[in-house]
Amino acid sequence: MISIVLVACATLATQVSAQCTRDSLKAITAEYLASLAGGKPSFVSPQKTNSLPLLYLENDAPIDIAKGVLSQGIKIDFNRSIYDTTACASYTEIVATTKHSYVIGTRLSVTDGKVTKIDSVVCDDGDWLFNAAGSLRYNQQENWDPIPEAKRNTREVIKAAGDAYIDAWGDKTISPPFDAKCARLEGGSYLTGNCKLNFQPPFVLLNKRYTIDEELGAVDIFHNFPFLDKAIARDPGTQTNNLLRVEGGKIKYIHENTVCQKKSCAK
Ligand SMILES: *[C@@H]1O[C@H](CO)[C@@H](O)[C@H](O)[C@H]1NC(C)=O
Repeated sequence: MISIVLVACATLATQVSAQCTRDSLKAITAEYLASLAGGKPSFVSPQKTNSLPLLYLENDAPIDIAKGVLSQGIKIDFNRSIYDTTACASYTEIVATTKHSYVIGTRLSVTDGKVTKIDSVVCDDGDWLFNAAGSLRYNQQENWDPIPEAKRNTREVIKAAGDAYIDAWGDKTISPPFDAKCARLEGGSYLTGNCKLNFQPPFVLLNKRYTIDEELGAVDIFHNFPFLDKAIARDPGTQTNNLLRVEGGKIKYIHENTVCQKKSCAK
């Protein structure tokens, strides 16, 4: 009898953890967005009825969720999300051009239907090339429609394009697969036609965290960037993230959000 119950429980647990659908990620992400707009960090309250703890980070630092951007009530002008049903995570970018303007990139990690980690890169005035009006204008004009099923790239191809883009910064032998019209939205500035970057060695990128969406041809990579910000140690360096749109194996769009520990590290 006991063994039958155990088998039943094990089966149920497998079903629950396997249940990471696009629709469930969309619903959780919509809830996050509504909370961000409404200033209600309590959206994670169901967490309390479940033993899973929630880790909340802004710019790589764990903070009290009640004291972060979720408590403010941010009027969102624009949002875009990608959904990773394999890693069970979503990535969302928002732009707010209000008086205190923001560009925020957030990765939600979901376990058994609950958000277990919220990782946000919170950019505002003084951050790398920050200009919310520019972010809004350029982001809105891009086409991130779902890629027709027959033309979708595999998760591996999309991830490899993302890795090639950021790994080429420290290794000039890597040639990332750029589309001829590749465009890079960095802070609020927009550069088209040349997305290649390369920096003096030694150049090490640490703490990569991926969100990959085959339907949208998207990969987001949270990582650290060395040397930019003199206020902090070179390694691991500055908190940043890069969101890429890959079409037919080629990198079409890149969005970068980078935080300055000391404001205006860019100048
Ligand atoms: C996010 O964007 C969609 C349109 O893409 C919009 O319908 C929705 O209201 C937006 N959500 C928030 C919270 O602004």
